[in-house]
Amino acid sequence: MSEILIVYYSYSGNTKRIAEIIKRKTGGDLFFTFPNPQYPKDSIDTLEVSKHQKANKQLPELTKKLESLDSYKYIFIGTPNWWSTMTPPIQKFLNTYDLSNKRIIPFITHGGGGVANIIKDMKLICDKSFFLKELSVIDNETEFVEQRVEYWLNEILHTN
Ligand SMILES: Cc1cc2nc3c(=O)[nH]c(=O)nc-3n(C[C@H](O)[C@H](O)[C@H](O)COP(=O)(O)O)c2cc1C
Repeated sequence: MSEILIVYYSYSGNTKRIAEIIKRKTGGDLFFTFPNPQYPKDSIDTLEVSKHQKANKQLPELTKKLESLDSYKYIFIGTPNWWSTMTPPIQKFLNTYDLSNKRIIPFITHGGGGVANIIKDMKLICDKSFFLKELSVIDNETEFVEQRVEYWLNEILHTN
């Protein structure tokens, strides 16, 4: 069994693409993907729904559950930047599972805003976890992404 778990939420596919590269290169379990995130197909509507959720601190229910995280040492957490923070399904995941003493490795895709408050907000929820260096990828970056992921993985997994 792998000691690596890759958890992500992706609305339009950019974060999913990075998650799949990580899976290919690490052999980790790509376990939890929020197949039914309950967001509208139209991204303008999604902007409105997620803005409302953020304002009202509402989090969607998780549609898939993990039995146990015991065997995992490294947990990659992938999310797009939404309203300068993580997506509500990822926030719900971090609130639901105890990630104490795990090594958390965030990966973020964004439309130009970078990681914004994402790492800070993750650390507030997971205050007993160890955070390793995150990867941040702009949504229109396709060239060299594979090499960037590889370089980043070598750096974090061989020194932690
Ligand atoms: C509801 C919503 C809110 C967003 N808010 C931001 C933002 O605050 N800053 C930013 O840089 N990009 C923002 N974006 C752009 C996404 O972060 C970016 O396109 C990302 O790569 C999408 O990842 P995905 O394809 O995995 O869903 C937003 C996109 C959506 C749909």
